Amino acid sequence: MLEVVILAAGQGTRMKSDLPKVLHPIAGRPMLAHVIDTARELGPTAIHVVIGHGAERVREQLAADDITWAVQEEQLGTGHATMQALPNTAPGSTVLVLFGDVPLTPASTLEALVDAAREGPALLTAILEDASGYGRIVRNDRGELVGVVEDKDASPEQRAIREINTGVLAAPQEDLAHYLPLVKNNNNQAEYYLPDVLGLAVRDGRHIATFTTGSELEILGINDRVQLNTVEREYQRRQAEKLMREGVSIADAGRLDIRGSLTCGRNVFLDVNVIIEGEVSLGDDVSIGANCVLCDVEVRDGAQIHPMSHVQEAVIGNNCSVGPFARLRPGTVLGDAARVGNFVETKKANIGRGSKVNHLTYIGDCDMGADVNIGAGTITCNYDGVNKHTTRIGDGVFVGSNSTLVAPLDIRQGGFVAAGSTVTKEVGAEELAVARGKQRNIAGWQRPGRREDKD
Ligand code: UD1
Ligand code: CA
Repeated sequence: MLEVVILAAGQGTRMKSDLPKVLHPIAGRPMLAHVIDTARELGPTAIHVVIGHGAERVREQLAADDITWAVQEEQLGTGHATMQALPNTAPGSTVLVLFGDVPLTPASTLEALVDAAREGPALLTAILEDASGYGRIVRNDRGELVGVVEDKDASPEQRAIREINTGVLAAPQEDLAHYLPLVKNNNNQAEYYLPDVLGLAVRDGRHIATFTTGSELEILGINDRVQLNTVEREYQRRQAEKLMREGVSIADAGRLDIRGSLTCGRNVFLDVNVIIEGEVSLGDDVSIGANCVLCDVEVRDGAQIHPMSHVQEAVIGNNCSVGPFARLRPGTVLGDAARVGNFVETKKANIGRGSKVNHLTYIGDCDMGADVNIGAGTITCNYDGVNKHTTRIGDGVFVGSNSTLVAPLDIRQGGFVAAGSTVTKEVGAEELAVARGKQRNIAGWQRPGRREDKD
């Protein structure tokens, strides 16, 4: 039986933020959510999260049926924090302690540690170029761990040690129940340190198993925004690498941000500075141009999103072309081979198969059929200041440039709107609507001349 305890009560003073540290996002999700995901991969019987600073916000954002919360009212140290959850753990289980601010440790690394901890405490360590800030691993002549000394309590000799405590510790529940109450806070920070249980166990002649990971990034703890960014970039790099191995072409793995989930078909290309949010799926042969933001979007086979487009809660049909500089807002659905060009905004709009809205246009609350041509500068006037109204445009309609379509409005199949019209009444099938001032040409007209009295 495995039970996971995640410590997440600390304030994170060095973040200089009102947001509790564990809620700061990595790839768009709270860092704590990533730790909980990893814990779940291990298939534990329970996941206990110790919260304190900003407890209500943390609980609200991460509520799930498989999580048991324990509140640490005062943040008196990692040992004290672990004690708050311990009464909820079952004797006979192995307890794995994780930190809510160490989000990149993979489950595979933790599995070995958990296995070793059936007999006694086990600790995950790492060897770092720069160990400053971390607790150092103190070993005896035989190389056995004798204790962990915190950076702030370390002697100059101990500070030179490059092997550090990652914070990941596993132990039989009984060992924690026995040693945690014995931990004292007579140290520089006057805190109850969790790793002190190891020193106490060693004094009882117990052996501490250690695992040393080679990867610095796996164990990087986030204490400030520099480390937050280091972890973010590493996380993004891993996601990009995974996609490339799956056959996606990425112009620059360092300039792709996936803050959510992305699934891709075959032969997909992502140009630089693409940002993916929420759930995005791209079909085969899709290409996303530079500086596009896609949020909760489905893009079907062969569609091209050209640079600088912002697309949210939309479905893009097969072989569509979008942008450059298009803004597709929620509720936009493009039929196959539809085209939405530059400086076009759409919202709650069905744009039928093969229809074209190519330039400088607003299409909102609109149901548009197939093979429609919308001229440059067309506006659906969907809002009367109180209510939104729908514009229905039939198959094969042609709307001339600079038309205003005042909703509610129907333009029936094959209708034709002359350029510059303000259309307020239904246009019947195959009819031509002209709704603009008649042109007058005035012969012999004199241009204004320069005024004589100008100084
Ligand atoms: C801790 C370890 C250090 C290790 C480092 C690895 C201790 C005493 N020190 O130091 O040996 O090298 O992590 O990253 O364990 N927390 C609580 N309640 C508290 C204090 C902390 O829940 O009262 C939580 C924090 O929210 C955080 C985690 O425990 O998620 C670690 O606390 P932090 O203060 O960041 O410890 P470090 O100084 O980084
Ligand atoms: Ca830390």
